[in-house]
Amino acid sequence: MRTVKKAKRMQSLAAGIKRDGRTIAFVPTMGALHEGHLSLVRRARKLGDIVAVSIYVNRTQFGPGEDLKKYPRTLERDKRLLRLLDVDYLFLPDDSEMYPSGYLTYVETEGITSVLEGKSRPTHFRGVTTVVAKLLNIVQPDVAVFGQKDAQQAIVISRMVADLNIPVKVIVAPTVREKTGLALSSRNRYFSPEQIRRASCIYHGLKRGRELINSGVTDSKKVVSEILRIIDDAEGTTIDYISINDANTLDHVRKITREVLISAAVELDGVRLIDNIKAKPGRTGC
Ligand code: PAJ
Repeated sequence: MRTVKKAKRMQSLAAGIKRDGRTIAFVPTMGALHEGHLSLVRRARKLGDIVAVSIYVNRTQFGPGEDLKKYPRTLERDKRLLRLLDVDYLFLPDDSEMYPSGYLTYVETEGITSVLEGKSRPTHFRGVTTVVAKLLNIVQPDVAVFGQKDAQQAIVISRMVADLNIPVKVIVAPTVREKTGLALSSRNRYFSPEQIRRASCIYHGLKRGRELINSGVTDSKKVVSEILRIIDDAEGTTIDYISINDANTLDHVRKITREVLISAAVELDGVRLIDNIKAKPGRTGC
């Protein structure tokens, strides 16, 4: 695995790969890698001749008071894991490479970024779209893989890619979970096994919501209040939102007649967690 720190160098390597007629599959990350990230890398391995992963903790997507300084950084371990998965290139820029002095340009996707996470974290998606647009320009992948764990992020990035005619195929891969059901997240490393057990109430609540929808409940308020009850019952939880939205447009849904995304943002003992599940009316199964 070759580590590349400079954008220009990465761009010229990518151009060379393409000249040779080979394809690039890309997984952008902020590091502190876990099985969720690694599942995306395995998927990328199947999708391209060359696999590139980036690790960059992007300050523009963290709001004031968020955990940018505390964000876990485990670079040596991350590199070992990526080598084991046969990754070809690790793009590892620093802040001065991504946002050099004089930097003035931001990418903003409207509308779908002002609900759910965007409502709670108003500057978050502007940072995500900006850094992902830059990473796609630098790595020039044919395919880029994102996780369903951050469902809104995947929708926003797909929209940006379409709107800006970026020549990349966006793939969204399923959420990897702990045995208890808790979605894997870099922030889970702050938790003890007991906290991981308590945090699994989020997934249990979402699953219960899906069951209700599958069994014919169409009133989203009813579904949300049942999920709220389950998550509220667990000790140490503070709910930011539980929401039911159209799975494609993220429009708020009152009467559930088509596929929806049930999403939750919950603080457990001060650590903010998000998760989601898709549900179709009158349909059982996963
Ligand atoms: P990060 O949180 O490191 O996540 C990198 C990728 O891993 C994202 O596509 C995310 O959805 C996916 N992922 C995280 N947990 C997952 C899980 N349990 N199962 C499956 N996939 C999972 O998301 C970001 O970084 C940043 O916003 C980024 C896109 C890199 C831009 O800075």
